[in-house]
Amino acid sequence: MNILLIGAGGREHALAWKIKQSPLCKKLFVAPGNAGVNEIAEIIPVVNYDFSDIKNICITKQIDMVVVGPEEPLVKGIYDYLKKDPSLKNLIIIGPNQNAARLEGSKAFAKDFMIRHGIPTAPYKEFSIENYNNAAKFIKNHPLPVVIKADGLAGGKGVVICDNTLEALAEMEMFMKDLKFGDAGKKIVVEKFLKGIELSVFILTDGRHYVLLPEAKDYKRVGENDTGPNTGGMGAISPVPFAGKELMKKIEEKIIIPTMEGIKKDGLDYRGFLYIGLMISDNEPYVIEYNCRLGDPETEVILPRLKNDLVELLVSLANQKLNEVKIDIDPRTVCTIVAASGGYPGSYEKGYPVIGINSLNAKESLLFHMGTAASNGDIVTNGGRVLCVSSFGKNISEAAEKSRNELKKINFKNMYYRTDIGYEFD
Ligand code: AMP
Ligand code: GLY
Repeated sequence: MNILLIGAGGREHALAWKIKQSPLCKKLFVAPGNAGVNEIAEIIPVVNYDFSDIKNICITKQIDMVVVGPEEPLVKGIYDYLKKDPSLKNLIIIGPNQNAARLEGSKAFAKDFMIRHGIPTAPYKEFSIENYNNAAKFIKNHPLPVVIKADGLAGGKGVVICDNTLEALAEMEMFMKDLKFGDAGKKIVVEKFLKGIELSVFILTDGRHYVLLPEAKDYKRVGENDTGPNTGGMGAISPVPFAGKELMKKIEEKIIIPTMEGIKKDGLDYRGFLYIGLMISDNEPYVIEYNCRLGDPETEVILPRLKNDLVELLVSLANQKLNEVKIDIDPRTVCTIVAASGGYPGSYEKGYPVIGINSLNAKESLLFHMGTAASNGDIVTNGGRVLCVSSFGKNISEAAEKSRNELKKINFKNMYYRTDIGYEFD
């Protein structure tokens, strides 16, 4: 098969690495990719995931399957756009259609879906600008802390947790009136703060059946001991020690199965990855969010543990035969640590040469590029999160230590990484 993978981050490098291992993959194209992907696949530039450019790639490169990495093209309807072209009617697209992608693209849609299908989640209310005064009243009477979320996509920044009412009212104003997140914040969801520990679970679904992929935990704060501002994720581990058999059974029964039933009952056209962000409170799982894609850097710990041929899985998905598949997971632990540009998630410089990436211990560690570019024969930094190293180990501390040791061999100006990923499980 000729496969086109859409995206540019570490998630896509890990997907490309995994797809390339499949004998079913004849040629792999990645748009736009990064310098790491460039070494294993043909990269094709696209700007802002332009749909018509992506369609042209599908036609000219005779693509059989499109795998969509990030949420943005899915939420904007890449599935529907490609499907309506008669010459692409046999194209397999991994990802939901635009309506089903609202599970990620609209927090209000996702919350309504959860409540209607009896899926545990924090109690909430949604407000649009017309109900501004009601929103203010609701927030004034809400116990603290209170969580305010932009309804639409806000690049992972659209959630604030407020410890006092005045701050919450100010945030509400910035979301709804000052349009801090553009149209995404015109509607807000206000919900109860859930105390607990976060866990991410991932399924691959064909709309009727699903397979469970390895769970993961990511480390969102930029600083050691989970301090400082939120990022896209500074590291991740899989498996997660507290996600034992009993908790995972509860998660399947209370969250995953009702989610699948909801997808079927609502007639959502959902064939792809679904990432369910959970809060575990008093040993009970609650959904914090759905994402219609894999996570980054979670993918960089999940895929190394997946022993199945990924393309074979995706073909089963296209045939709605995922019930016939058996998932085979490597029992070892994988820990990934992200090396970021100094300043991230605030402002940072790009274009610094990345040194030492060829000196990795390839047997036990994998290097995935995140924000890199090729420039005159050099690999240079091209984003906030630059690269990550995923290592296998018999436990978290061993895997994390291997990743740290490999990162010591790599350097770029102002390189920064957390040295404590997995710290709470030592
Ligand atoms: P989201 O974009 O919905 O995943 O929210 C981003 C982060 O905000 C989550 O990963 C949680 O850490 C936090 N969060 C979101 N909703 C809640 C909630 N109801 N209670 C506590 N923390 C939350
Ligand atoms: N690492 C969080 C995410 O991909 O959404």
